[in-house]
Amino acid sequence: MHLPDYKEARTRDKREYKRVEYSFSDDIKNKYIGKKFHLKTYGCQMNEHDSENIEALLIALGFSKVDDYLDADLVLLNTCSIRENAHNKAFGMLGRLKHRKQEKKDLIVGLCGCMAQEASVVEEIMRDYKFVNFVFGTHNMYQLPEIIDRAIEENKQQIEVYSREGDLVEGLPVVRANNYKAYVNIIYGCNKFCTYCIVPYTRGMERSREKEDILKEVDELIKDGYKEITLLGQNVNAYGKDLYDDYTLGDLLEEIALKDIPRVRFMTSHPWDFTDRMIEVIGKYKNIMPSVHLPVQSGSSRILKLMGRRYTKESYLELFNKIKEVVPGVSISTDIIVGFPGETEEDFLETLDLVNKCKYDNAFTFIFSKREGTPACKLDDPVSLKEKEERLQRLNEVVNKYFLENNKKLEGKVVPVLVEGVSDKKNMYFGYSDTNKLINFESDREIEVGSIVNVEITSAKTWSLDGREVK
Ligand code: 5AD
Ligand code: SF4
Repeated sequence: MHLPDYKEARTRDKREYKRVEYSFSDDIKNKYIGKKFHLKTYGCQMNEHDSENIEALLIALGFSKVDDYLDADLVLLNTCSIRENAHNKAFGMLGRLKHRKQEKKDLIVGLCGCMAQEASVVEEIMRDYKFVNFVFGTHNMYQLPEIIDRAIEENKQQIEVYSREGDLVEGLPVVRANNYKAYVNIIYGCNKFCTYCIVPYTRGMERSREKEDILKEVDELIKDGYKEITLLGQNVNAYGKDLYDDYTLGDLLEEIALKDIPRVRFMTSHPWDFTDRMIEVIGKYKNIMPSVHLPVQSGSSRILKLMGRRYTKESYLELFNKIKEVVPGVSISTDIIVGFPGETEEDFLETLDLVNKCKYDNAFTFIFSKREGTPACKLDDPVSLKEKEERLQRLNEVVNKYFLENNKKLEGKVVPVLVEGVSDKKNMYFGYSDTNKLINFESDREIEVGSIVNVEITSAKTWSLDGREVK
């Protein structure tokens, strides 16, 4: 048994970690043939991609996938800790599973992902959710087959959570959710320790994958006909810093852009590490999509300081304007938190002012959520939830206005769209533009999902655009 510990999770030092090649133990391969699993994923793209590995490991154990948890012999929740509501959703599902287990006594229930890294969650599970068969952490994913096998064989709750990252495991099997777009991890963890954020504790120290491993994965995806890859990391802009003297995300992006892949994306970027070299590379290559996610969090320099974000409103705006200047037609999206402890009406007005300057193409807006163990959790927080909700609403009204305004500029223009699906209506399809906008369009021919087609925009809405295919 290994229990999580935040003190340990917080430590950062120059440690050597080994790169190890994964191999699946032959003893348990296909051992559970005939059994069914249901995997529920909460949270970000990182979790979605982890679930693609988890699914492959479960399949190697012999399990087959079902969409309804009521049909499953094993239910696994891949959880998220970022805000309290993600937490509550997972605990809500555990409540339903407790009930389900009364009907189906041999149901196996597991929890993994970020919540597994939280000591308070694991304590609660050990105390009040004894029916949960196993818990494993983000650094223990590769041990999943052995943990599940032990949980079943020994019929005893298994808790395997390393607080410190171990080896960097390459070669995990993967079942990708799509056959035309794929996620590729380039860096794990985060060293930024923004004061509100739990990620540095749940995902550990920044560790870059070796560039050869990344390029090999990209080559395989190209060979398999993939059209779009998204390079993933909590902070992709820190790529390479822990591994190389002079090889950065700009270099990696350039090397990938020179390959025969139509679309390259990357997320998420921290403004702190955004170099001129990166901006230049994004602007230079047509297959690096002109779409940047650049979380600002707040427009008040005072709050940014309390958040530990390492930039001011002014320096953020400078970077924002540079990207807009150098990358033609770029769309920029952001994340914003309202109601950080001590945020005054003046601070909030600074955020609105910044939004009015940046006119974002998309924005994810949140009310500050206290995360136990983070420094912001201890700050005085006099503003009421009601007031925070009002601020969120005021903010949303402003950001939405700009989504529509930006989308309107595309009316009459022709944009490339990667087709992701067919809608219920005849001859109607949907997909995403190069600037990452959702496009619903009609065509008089049959189009294969995964094709890239040209679409003339006929009308703009706040969260999507309508159009028709042009040849
Ligand atoms: N409360 C509210 N929002 C948060 N985020 C991260 N931590 C918190 C928190 N404690 C938001 C940030 C981040 C996004 C992924 O989630 O905006 O960019
Ligand atoms: Fe969290 Fe900040 Fe790291 Fe993003 S950069 S994961 S907000 S600590």
